[in-house]
Amino acid sequence: MKIGVCKESTETRVAAVEETVKAFKKNGHEVFVQSGAGAAANVSDENYRQAGATVLPTLKDLLASAELVLKVQPPTDEEVGLLRSGTILVSMLAPLTNPGLAAKLAAAGVTGFSMESVPRIARAQSMDVLSSQASVAGYKAVLVAANKIGRLMPMMMTAAGTIQPAGVLIIGAGVAGLQAIATARRLGATIKAVDTRPAVKEQVESLGAKFVPLAVDHQQAQDAGGYAKDLGEEFYKQEQDIVAPHLKGCSVVICTAQIPGRKAPLLITEAMVKTMAPGSAIIDLAAPAGGNCSLTKVGQWVEAFGVSIYGPANLPAEMPALASTLFARNVATFLNELIKDGQVKLDLNNEVIKGMLITHEGKVVHEATLKARTGQGGKP
Ligand code: NAI
Repeated sequence: MKIGVCKESTETRVAAVEETVKAFKKNGHEVFVQSGAGAAANVSDENYRQAGATVLPTLKDLLASAELVLKVQPPTDEEVGLLRSGTILVSMLAPLTNPGLAAKLAAAGVTGFSMESVPRIARAQSMDVLSSQASVAGYKAVLVAANKIGRLMPMMMTAAGTIQPAGVLIIGAGVAGLQAIATARRLGATIKAVDTRPAVKEQVESLGAKFVPLAVDHQQAQDAGGYAKDLGEEFYKQEQDIVAPHLKGCSVVICTAQIPGRKAPLLITEAMVKTMAPGSAIIDLAAPAGGNCSLTKVGQWVEAFGVSIYGPANLPAEMPALASTLFARNVATFLNELIKDGQVKLDLNNEVIKGMLITHEGKVVHEATLKARTGQGGKP
């Protein structure tokens, strides 16, 4: 197949790196790369050429040559306008939060696969960009916080006396939260974690953190796909009361609590921030979904009551080389699933392919995306 790798217009990551380009070539594909696609991720045009790709100057040239197009971020309207009918697009497509894009891709005759919609089953873990990128975000969030706060993370015995370890609270112990626990633990902090899914208690404790339980049972908390269910405003108010006393002893709070396709639950109010020690930091990874803290602003540091609150828009993009390598490996593994004997095989009995296929033959074919379009919500 002719595979094209786009340069992102609003992103530092890239959907293919040298390693995956070499693998595509080995599998008999032709690879085209838009000039500068990997520049921010430390992959030069020359690196791509050496891996066997042909570098093309513009997106228009790329899309004219490629049958299957790889991207990281959902295409802009302008980019959709350049996609040829019949093109296969493999990218993040935000189908639940931006179902209008799916409609545009369908109208353009594009067969679109959403990398966020990889089913959360053991077999698909190696294709799961949400997991790979959340791991990077969880790690980086702790480092950003550690850099910001005015104290040390580990306990330290010095000639001037003993310094107590910093307290870290993790809200949401999914992929990012667990990685944040592991990172904070390596730095020597004492860690507590809260999650609505009781199933994560064991994982939290195995990483050396204390689990703060909420009064919710497994069935109430978690859907069949492993995702948290929306528990409603009343529940989140009660959760605020449970979280509040733990904020007082913390120097760092990492927020990751999210419900796919929904606004993130509000778990830290302004009044709760006021109770935190000056010099503390909150890193709110749920910022793009509305944030877990009421003071969070996407992409900005906010200073309130001596507490620094950061709502990163895209933390993995702050580590573009590593994040791109992981993303590209996820994409390459998916292409191995999708392409058989040199051709795309739309095997709808394959739950990975069916789960990720958003548009085909002029239609939106993804059930959850269709539900999101009609405002009925839905999970990937
Ligand atoms: P996510 O990004 O949707 O949410 C992050 C975390 O926030 C989750 O642990 C969720 O339970 C928690 N949360 C939601 N509302 C909350 C609240 N009000 N208070 C506290 N915590 C709250 O989830 P993520 O990290 O993408 O993964 C969720 C789960 O999916 C994993 O723990 C795992 O069970 C499953 N999974 C399965 C995979 C596979 O089998 N291929 C791969 C990755 C994840």
